Amino acid sequence: MESAAKDRVLIASNRGPVSFTLADDGTLTPRRGAGGLVSGLSSVAGQAEVLWVCAALSDADRAAARAAPGGLLGPEAAGSIGSEVRMLNISATTFDRAYNAVANSTLWFIHHMLYDTPNRPLFGLKFRREWEAFRAYNAAFADALAEGASAAAAPARAMVQDYHLTLAPRMLADRRPGLPIGYFCHTPWARPDYFALLPDDIGREVLEGILGADHAGFHAERWADAFLDCCQAVLGAQVDRSARTVSHHGHVTTVGVHPLGVDAADLTERAAHADVQAHVAALSGATAGRKLIVRIDRTELSKNIVRGLAAYRELLLTRPEWRGRVTHLAFAYPSRHDLPEYREYTAAVQRLAREIVHEFGTDDWNPLILGVNDDYPRSLAAYRLADVLVVNPIRDGMNLVAKEGPLLSEAGCALVLSREAGAVAELAEGALVVNPYDISGTAEALHQALTMPDPERKRRTELLAHAASALPPAAWLAAQLNALR
Ligand code: G6P
Repeated sequence: MESAAKDRVLIASNRGPVSFTLADDGTLTPRRGAGGLVSGLSSVAGQAEVLWVCAALSDADRAAARAAPGGLLGPEAAGSIGSEVRMLNISATTFDRAYNAVANSTLWFIHHMLYDTPNRPLFGLKFRREWEAFRAYNAAFADALAEGASAAAAPARAMVQDYHLTLAPRMLADRRPGLPIGYFCHTPWARPDYFALLPDDIGREVLEGILGADHAGFHAERWADAFLDCCQAVLGAQVDRSARTVSHHGHVTTVGVHPLGVDAADLTERAAHADVQAHVAALSGATAGRKLIVRIDRTELSKNIVRGLAAYRELLLTRPEWRGRVTHLAFAYPSRHDLPEYREYTAAVQRLAREIVHEFGTDDWNPLILGVNDDYPRSLAAYRLADVLVVNPIRDGMNLVAKEGPLLSEAGCALVLSREAGAVAELAEGALVVNPYDISGTAEALHQALTMPDPERKRRTELLAHAASALPPAAWLAAQLNALR
């Protein structure tokens, strides 16, 4: 007997689960991406038929998308993630305006409150042109999702991800009335007074875009509440705070809090591989029994790396007893290098790191090792060895580093955590919580973390690890899919 057709789940995100590199001889090689969404999806893929729509991000991706019939990558090219992948070949100019100018330089800046307001933002004609591109880019996703839903033999549900695709839910609902649509915001959400930096019509379009969805999810209650506040203040929508619903133009969107966690078994298994083991040996050699303070971030304006290094410098200045007894491993991977602010920020991180090494380093002690290459096995090794983990973003939707570290720590690690990270809602009890702007306060927390008695460190690490794995990616995704039934 033939089995019933599986449900169809449509995922849309700017960065897809696979990317390509192009060799000189023209060969395209796929590389599977990591992250919560990919891992959550592998669990769904068994029960549902999944189509993942993403953008081609590079020339190599565009070549792969062009070579694939209808942009639909076959299972081999899709990097065996157990789903079909449709890579949209959006023109490089449109993509640049949508991704760099609008998503990363405007919406990201609004939600992370990154503007230097005497100088930016500037919403003039240039921005209006970029916004047009952002609409076209969102429309390309809505078209692909609508087609994907139509092609399904069984009921379909769509899950639209993140700030890049803020307009897509409304556009998709217009193309496919009745299709259940979820939206998930991986960033913080701005308070109404900061959100109001956006031109009024653009602010409304952003909110109404998301309200095209039937369910909108956030990592933390704080961001969900800010979204509700914006819907009320900007749109005059009817907001029910206890039920967490927004009614606007006759449509109801439920708002949910889904704090993404880590799959503890998966992560622990990966961290036991030989490549990680080799890094554990190398890092142990380099730090020679000293206390180890670790941080791992993309070199991202919101991650507050410069103030974090400044706090380490202040620790060495005000508590000279730590000189020679501690090593700071700071991994800061390249990110968004098309944006000048990110290039300048990277230079500032490197400058301060050099200054610290110059100021305190001796013949037999290197106070700070800055790693700028993305090296996943090395990061896992650092988690295993860390005595202290620093996560001090000025604002962050969740922050999974704060969750991964305690799960892998061998001897227990003290977590210095910013009160502005979404993760603080679940991790506050086990962490040392800091104001990310307060360098002296962060330096003091580093000292406390380094001197924390072993039993307390172990107890707190257990609390952290427990909270970190409370909602692993599979359950996180399932909860949102259920909210769409
Ligand atoms: C954040 C966003 C993601 C994004 C990631 C990396 O976590 O929420 O959507 O993929 O940063 O940024 P990138 O611009 O390199 O995709």
